[in-house]
Order: sequence, then C-alpha cells, then structure tokens
Amino acid sequence: MSPAFPIPVRPVIQPPPMVEEVLDDAERTALKTRIKALMKQQDAVLVAHYYTSADLQDLAEETGGCVSDSLEMARFGHAHPAKTLIVAGVKFMGETAKILNPEKRVIMPDLAAECSLDLACPADEFAAFCDAHPDRLSVVYANTSAAVKARADWVVTSGIAAKIVKYLHQQGHKLLWAPDRHLGDYVQRITGADMLLWQGSCVVHEAFKADALKKLRAEHPNAAVLVHPESPEAVIALADVVGSTTQLIEAVRTLPNPEFIVATDNGIFHKMHAAAPGKILLEAPTAGEGATCVSCAHCPWMAMNGLRKLAAVLENGGNEIHIEEGIRARAAVSIQKMLDFAAAEKAGQIQLGD
Ligand code: 13P
Ligand code: SF4
Repeated sequence: MSPAFPIPVRPVIQPPPMVEEVLDDAERTALKTRIKALMKQQDAVLVAHYYTSADLQDLAEETGGCVSDSLEMARFGHAHPAKTLIVAGVKFMGETAKILNPEKRVIMPDLAAECSLDLACPADEFAAFCDAHPDRLSVVYANTSAAVKARADWVVTSGIAAKIVKYLHQQGHKLLWAPDRHLGDYVQRITGADMLLWQGSCVVHEAFKADALKKLRAEHPNAAVLVHPESPEAVIALADVVGSTTQLIEAVRTLPNPEFIVATDNGIFHKMHAAAPGKILLEAPTAGEGATCVSCAHCPWMAMNGLRKLAAVLENGGNEIHIEEGIRARAAVSIQKMLDFAAAEKAGQIQLGD
C-alpha cells in the first residue's frame, strides 16, 4: 500500500566535524572544582546523556545529578528540585527539560548540539504529513523539536516506544511515526501496528554495517551483540539484545557473556565498563564494504559538550533554552502522556498482553 502523502527520502544531514575536548589532569581538576562551586551558587543540577564525555558523566554523578537515557533524563530533571537544570546532551534533550519545567532555568554547554533526526523533521512538513492523515494518531520520537512535539499526539523514547505503540495499536489506532525510519520500522515489525513512517535517520547508527558485524561476531563466538534500534534492519537482525541505551547497559551487567559487540555511540562504554568491570566491549563495525561512516560510532553533536564550555556558561550566562509558551504547553501534553504511561506501566496498571 503506498501512502496518500508521499514521504520523500530526507536529504542527507551533514554532521559537523568531530571536535572532542581534550584535557590534562590539572585542567580537568581545576575545571571541576570551579564548576562544582558555581553549580552550588546557582542551585544547579547536571543531567547528562550516556554519549557525553566521561568527564561530564563523572561530574554529573559526583554532584548528585544523573547520567541516563533520554527517558530518564526527562523524568529526573522534572522530579529534581534544583532551580537550574544543566543538560549535557543534544538540543532536544534541553528542550524537553524546559517543556516540562518552564519555571526553571535550563542551560546547555553548547546550544548548537543538534541531532540528525530532529534536523530531518521540520515542523511545517511534519504538520502537512499529519494534515494529510487526520485518521491517524501521530507518535514522534523524543529526538524532535518542541514544535514537532507540540503537533504530535504522543512522544516516545526508544526505551518505551514499542510499549506505547503496542498499546495504541491494541486500542485500534492507526499511526503516523516520525522521524526515525529504522526505529519506526523496528517498532512496526514487533508490534504489527499500522504505521506510516517518516524517513529520517541517525547519522551515527545508520553507519553500522551488517556484513562486517557478522564477521566480527564469527571471530568472537562468546560475544553477545547489543544494538540500539536506530540501527538498520539488517544490523538489528543480528542482535541478541535490542534496546535503549539504559537497556543495553543493563544487558552488559546481567548477561553472562564475557564479551559484547555494541552497536551504539561508544560514549556508552564509560558506563558499561563501570556496570561490568572486566567484561570486554567491542565497537560494532562502521567500516567495511560500502562504508560511508562520517561519525564512526560517536555522535559529533554529543561531542560538542565539555567541561570548558560548561564552566564558561556558568560563569558568563547565556545558552539558556527558551520556548514560545503556546508551543511549550502543547508539547508538554504529549510528553506528559509518555511519562504517565511509563509510571502506570511500571505500577502494573497497563496490561499489554502478547
Ligand atoms: P536513548 O533514549 O536510548 O538514550 O537514545 C537517545 C539517542 O539519541 C540515541 O541516539
Ligand atoms: Fe541524534 Fe544520532 Fe546523535 Fe542520538 S546519536 S543524538 S539520534 S544524531
């Protein structure tokens, strides 16, 4: 069946060059001391994604903040009493924090930290997609702008996408999905839901190569293959575990395998090593036949975050997230539905069946 509204293949989003912060021990210690004092003065808490630098992840934990996937980042920031939320991640994560906490100051080390999925889904084109299918509920991935979330019926993250889609499917709804075609395709396969898919993709996960992964797996027969569902179908098909960043870390901690091949951003290795010291972690290949990788298992936008920029923002101000109130209030409704669903599901109040 071809959709009534043609969804063109999205233009390839060119990521920025990879520029990672490099610090020696003396500068790292000095920056952390300064940042900790400034955070105290400004009643700030740091919420960092697993793909950010080890320094930011450590700092978040040392200061009572959190390091997590995007679902938990949203939950933690919302529940924490601090007046300032520092979000180390990409822009949609900062926007989500502001949408849920309009009374708080939300700042980021670098506001130019984008995401290829967010960039591939302009709000006006998404609205036209929804207008063309008024009989469908729209479900968008958290990796979207505030304006897209404001137009959507539901927001989901990778950690809860399949459960929410399954629930909506069981309620008899037909769906529109945006923007990640691979995650959408995966969710459609495992839930059987009727979904029309936007054609965005993640520049990092799309680069993983199934043929090279097969070879690596053959060389490491005791390894379990862990895959984030933003990866292509052929890569997901080789996975022992498919899941959000938190779910993949949990797999390293709980599975008996001594080795893991990991198809997601290698920033996650910092937490995986801490969760399961001694286990061997291998990057899933982004090279091999047909290699096109420009970001090679590391997100260049996530890499824009660093201690120097964080110290500068706390010292000089700026880099605050602002969202027009009408958009914010509408986006809050669709994000809150996800948080409420997650809480109800955890409490056993939602039965999804098989
Ligand atoms: P998680 O919600 O699994 O952390 O994913 C966010 C993301 O951007 C993955 O590329
Ligand atoms: Fe976006 Fe991909 Fe970077 Fe995640 S890894 S923030 S999906 S570009």
